[in-house]
Amino acid sequence: MRQPPIDPQLFIDNRKRLAALLPAHSLAVVNANDVLPTNADGSLRLVPNSDLFYLTGVEQEQSILLLYPDADDPKTRELLFLRQPDPKLEIWEGHKLTRDEARRLTGIHHVHWLDEFPALFHRLMCECDCVCLNANEHPRAELTVETRETRFVADVVRRYPLHEYQRLGLLMRQLRQVKSSIEIDLIGRACAATKAGFERVAKFVKPGVYEYEIEAEFAHEFLRRGAAFAYTPIIASGRNACALHYVANDQQCRAGDLLLLDVAAAYANYNADLTRTIPISGRFSPRQRDVYSAVLRVLRAQLKGLLPGKKWRVWQEEAEQLMERELLGLKLITPRDIKNQDPDEPAFKKYFMHGVGHPLGLDVHDLGVRGDIFAPGWIMTVEPGIYLPDEGFAVRLETDVLITANGPVDLMADIPIEIDDLESLMSQKR
Ligand code: GLY
Ligand code: MN
Ligand code: MN
Repeated sequence: MRQPPIDPQLFIDNRKRLAALLPAHSLAVVNANDVLPTNADGSLRLVPNSDLFYLTGVEQEQSILLLYPDADDPKTRELLFLRQPDPKLEIWEGHKLTRDEARRLTGIHHVHWLDEFPALFHRLMCECDCVCLNANEHPRAELTVETRETRFVADVVRRYPLHEYQRLGLLMRQLRQVKSSIEIDLIGRACAATKAGFERVAKFVKPGVYEYEIEAEFAHEFLRRGAAFAYTPIIASGRNACALHYVANDQQCRAGDLLLLDVAAAYANYNADLTRTIPISGRFSPRQRDVYSAVLRVLRAQLKGLLPGKKWRVWQEEAEQLMERELLGLKLITPRDIKNQDPDEPAFKKYFMHGVGHPLGLDVHDLGVRGDIFAPGWIMTVEPGIYLPDEGFAVRLETDVLITANGPVDLMADIPIEIDDLESLMSQKR
């Protein structure tokens, strides 16, 4: 890890909270992600499995966690299985966790090598009443590629067809939605690296620079802080900003255009998610100001509306109503458009076609469904936008907000967003 060690109490507490939710006498299993292949003998750097990381802090490939809190034998209540380090492996791949290191990292005492897994797993399958297996249950996940977890689940269900199985994913969603103080601190560090990157870039941008040069400026600030890109950066000048997932970042910035930056850092696997839209020449035109101000008003109102007890879907609907009013004000839609609209494809969707925000945490689009109710400890993004391909620009603004019993807390309140603050920041050239 590029960061100082995380307090293992985070993982100990997370396992305790999961144990309290598991059905009686159940065995839960969580697998590491695969190291994904590229071409020839190439592979990507491992993306840690978020649930495994949440429960253990382990980022190493092939690791398996078994939790059986009601086990009669105390030695089998928490078990971690790891690849056995060996000198040949380490020549190629470098250091692997020793048992002691894994104990210190995770707070799990019983650490085994993977070759012990089959016998121990079979023994616990014979003792337990119920098995909780994991799956990616993100509503927008594309499940076309088999994962290590899905292969494991298929194999276990085939070999033990008479067991009772339950979805661990439902419990993980409930747990991971409510962030602890250690997690909030780590996301705060991701936000701080994001702020440094954005401020560097705001002073760097001028007509003639290429979008990929801006990407390099962000990379410089993120990497030197032990952080990384939280997701593939979107650095979209002019009309490029109207493609929601534009990641080519290969165009030259032109005078007078706007630049949409959806770029943020991850720190210790915890993500920030930021969007700012800035004028490439340093000053907004009157039309750009009007659209920007409309988006900012929606962001401010939606930020205030992040209250415990509110359903995510209701909050989304509130944003849509507000956006409809702003689009009327900008004369982009008319009362007649609204009167004649297809309820399944309302008029505002032509200009604001995505959700107004999502949970944020170990995943950028963290666990949750729109029927979920906000509670203290949730972190949501707020990200309204207006997309005007015919006018060659778009404005999206995005911030990250902690929901508390005392009202929402903007974790990015110190990253400039007001027009005057942005123009003044951009005038301070590097
Ligand atoms: N950067 C991805 C998103 O804003 O949801
Ligand atoms: Mn974003
Ligand atoms: Mn987002």
